[in-house]
Order: sequence, then structure tokens, then C-alpha cells
Amino acid sequence: MDREVLIAREIIQERVRELGVRISSDYRGEEPVIVGILNGAVFFFADLVRYITIPVRIDFIRARSYGAQMCSSGKVEITKDVEIDVKGSPVILVEDIVDTGLTLKAVVHHVKDMGAASCAICALIDKKERRELEISIDYLGFSVETGFIVGYGLDYNERYRYLNDICLLKPEQCGGRGGGILNDHRL
Ligand code: PRP
Repeated sequence: MDREVLIAREIIQERVRELGVRISSDYRGEEPVIVGILNGAVFFFADLVRYITIPVRIDFIRARSYGAQMCSSGKVEITKDVEIDVKGSPVILVEDIVDTGLTLKAVVHHVKDMGAASCAICALIDKKERRELEISIDYLGFSVETGFIVGYGLDYNERYRYLNDICLLKPEQCGGRGGGILNDHRL
């Protein structure tokens, strides 16, 4: 096997359910716009939204970063924009993983520019190993220290997204970037 299970599907589902309950409570009486950041967030997004018990509107955004792997001046371009008018509405961005932080920084800036009343961040994985920008995550699933993780939307060269579990790729599968320690982030 080229991978090992790091976070099993049952643990993921329980955690996503908890996040949905918390969001439902925090936004009671409001109708937030939940914006999924494509492509990695799709499964997390779809599960999360169905655990939320208040009315929401949903939309997606796609951002592509250039140079983020090599240096801190990586530029982020919005290649598919939110189509709902978010002006005056609370927005919750849903991301699969926060790595350098460049993508979220740019997307938060963009959504605020669109006139959102507020912009919260919900991320499944916080991975600080390569963090370059400070990001405050309002709703977090799990923290992962190191290693190359795939599954439940996360890819390696577009592979493994379909897996139900979050898995750690063996080092030989990803140029020596495997290995890792998981901190189960609790509220
Ligand atoms: C991945 C991931 C996040 C981003 C995090 O997206 O889904 O959006 O990188 O990295 P950062 O914190 O260093 O910016 P990617 O651009 O690989 O596209 P994908 O979602 O289609 O996998």
C-alpha cells in the first residue's frame, strides 16, 4: 500500500458534524453564504453544509497560486468567482487545508472587497509546517504537523481525492515528504 490511514472516515464525519452544529448555533437567525474553495474542499463542503441546520446559501470560488511552492511572494489569482451577491451578508469560507496561507489570505481579501458583512474561515486541516502568513481559523477540523496528506478531497498530482479517509502518503510516493504527527484539534 502506498499510504496509511491518518484520520478515518468515522472520525472525519464526527468532527464535521460538530463543526456544522457549532456554525448552526453561532449563525442562528442569520443566513450565511457558505463558499467552498475548489477543488479540494468539495467533499468537506458537501458534508458540512448538510450538517448545518439553519438556512444557508452556497457558492464556490477557485483560486490558483503561482510560485507559492518556491517563495513567499506567490501570487494568487481568482479563476472562478463567487456569483451570489455577498454584499452585507456573513460569509463562511470552507477550505480543505491551510498550508502556506496564501490562498486564504487572498480569498478573504477578495470576499471583503465584495462587501461581505463578515468573513469566517472553516478549514478541515491546519498544517503549519510551511505557513507564511498568519491565518486565524474560526472553525477547525484537525491540525497536522508534517507529512503529505491525501484523500477526502486532498490530492497529490490530482490523485487520491476520492478516498473517504485522510491518508498519509508514504515518502517514496511524494518525493520524501511523507511521515507525520497528528494533533487532534479539539474545541
Ligand atoms: C490547495 C488547497 C488549498 C490551498 C492551500 O489548493 O485546496 O486551497 O492549496 O495552500 P496554501 O495555504 O499554501 O495557499 P490547490 O491550489 O492545490 O488546488 P485544489 O484545491 O484543486 O487541490
